[in-house]
Order: sequence, then C-alpha cells, then structure tokens
Amino acid sequence: PTPSLAKAWQGQLLIGAAVDEKNIKSQGELIANQFSSVVAENAMKPMATEPREGEFHFEAADAIVRFAQSHDMAIRGHTLLWHLHTPDWMWQGRNGQPADRNLVLARLKRHIETEVGHYKGQVYVWDVVNEIIDEKQADCLRNDKWHQVVGPDYVDEAFRYAHAADPAARLFINEYSTTEPAKQRCLIRVVQGLQARGVPINGIGHQMHISVFYPRVEEIDQTLTAFARLGLENQITEIDMSLYKWKDNRLYDTRENLLALQARRYGDIMRMIHNHPDVTAVTWWGVTDASTWLNQDAPADHHDQPLLFDAQGQPKGAFWAVFNAA
Ligand code: XIL
Repeated sequence: PTPSLAKAWQGQLLIGAAVDEKNIKSQGELIANQFSSVVAENAMKPMATEPREGEFHFEAADAIVRFAQSHDMAIRGHTLLWHLHTPDWMWQGRNGQPADRNLVLARLKRHIETEVGHYKGQVYVWDVVNEIIDEKQADCLRNDKWHQVVGPDYVDEAFRYAHAADPAARLFINEYSTTEPAKQRCLIRVVQGLQARGVPINGIGHQMHISVFYPRVEEIDQTLTAFARLGLENQITEIDMSLYKWKDNRLYDTRENLLALQARRYGDIMRMIHNHPDVTAVTWWGVTDASTWLNQDAPADHHDQPLLFDAQGQPKGAFWAVFNAA
C-alpha cells in the first residue's frame, strides 16, 4: 500500500487537496489516507453559496465539511470575495438604479457573516479575498466591480466582517503569481496598508499554479521570505505543476522527461519549505490528473498531468518526491 503523505509531513505542515462532492465519494479513501486538509474547489465560492440574494446554499460545502471532520482533516475556506464565480446581483442597484456603495457593502457583510458564521469553529482559515491585485493599477487593486462600486476599502471591510463572524479563524489574502516582482511589490504594499490600518490579516495564500519550467525554486523561497518578514503566515493554497507553459499547447520534451522534471522540482520545493516555519500548509489543486482544472477547457491535444496521482489514482514520481522530501 502507498504510505501516507499527510503522515510523513505531520507536525510540520498540513498537506491539503481541493475536492468536490464527486471525488469525496469516488476517492474518499485516497483523500482521507493521503491528505490532512481539504478545501472546496468550487462549493464555497459566492456563486455556489448565495446564488440569489439572501438564498444561501451550503449543502454541497457541508458534505465536504462532514467528510473532513469524520476523517480529522482541517478545512480551508475558499473564498469570500472574488471578481469571478460571483453572482451579478451582488453589484446591481435596485429597480434599475445604479449600484450604490452602501447597498453593496451591506450585501457583502451579510454574505460574509452568514458563510463564516455557518462554518464558525470548523473552517480554520479563510481566503477572505481572492486575486484582488493588479500591478497595472495605480493603487495596485484590480479594477473590478467591488472596487468600482465600493472603492478600495472593500478589502478592509471584508476582513473586518470575517473577523467579527469568527474571531478565531485565520484570515488570508489569496493571490496568484506572487513570485512575479511587480505583482509581489503591489501585494506587499496592499498588505502593509492593511496592517497600518489595523485590519485583521494573518497570512498570504500563494496559489502556485506553476509549470515544470518556472518559476525557479529560489524565487519561491524569496517570495515566502518577503511575506514572513511582514510577520505573516504563508500557505501554498492551490499548487499544481503543469507540463506546459501557460496558454501554450506545445510539449517541449517527452512526457517521460517532463514528468521526471516535475518530480524533481516538487521535491526541491518541498525541501526548500523545510526552511520556512512561516509555511503552515501546502494544498494541491486537485487529487488526480483525471480531474485537474487545467484540462477543463483545454483542447483535445492538451493533456496536462500536474498533480501527485495519475489518472488511475496511482502515485506518480511527483508523489514520491514530495514523500521523500519530508
Ligand atoms: C477554479 C476551479 O478549479 C474550476 O473548477 C472552476 O471552473 C474555476 O475555478 N484560482 C482560484 C481557484 O482561486 O478558485 C480557481 O479554481 C483556479 C484559479
């Protein structure tokens, strides 16, 4: 039998996986044996939990939470605010009027209070806001509906609402490409602003949708150090390692070589993380290569294999590299 990754890393890190209602049924045993934490791949997003104003649906997410609790697994909450997977009503005005700041903030408050309240004491860490950084904007914040209707302080408010609803939950900003210098500078600036205003933020979620070709392990190391210096906790929240370059369907080598490179790089990353007590969890964005989001809208000739288990649920070289790095 395959040894347990979660057990190998126990006491150092939580080892997590993004799951949905389907794979907790079909792969429950594999998930429970191998991982010590779960996150809902989609079931806790605003579109899923409040599709219409005031109509909350927690059935799908509750099933994941029950599964996790019955196997003593930790639960990450993802996500309370995003510019995607969010129903349009959240930003719309009433009776054809333009949306106004107070109305949208009141909806955000109710959404966050209800969801965080529902999982109070069960979800230990929340991605309060997701993908809010845009290094091309003067204030470093994405020019999305939240920003347009509320203004930049929607971020502060989201954290304050979440903290009020569950003071014990750890609160994170979750972001992609945090290793890119301009993006990283912006994220640091936004976080320092939050800290200066006394906003309750505990950590940074680094999505880490990476490739076998980039970024370099040193860049990840430097990135984690930069946020640890701000007194923050780091988590790798959505790691997967594509065999391709982003938005490029060309395979640059044989699959065999690319999978060997993937294993080596996964091992290098996990060994580097030993030097980071600031990193408390690493979560893979999926369980097996059969259902990775990277193949979701991909053309037929593009078959990515970014995870630790192959399409049959068998451990890959990547798995053994992460196991042996513990
Ligand atoms: C993705 C899911 O994996 C897909 O199933 C869904 O269609 C779109 O969202 N960054 C995030 C995640 O923060 O929520 C995204 O998840 C992947 C990118």
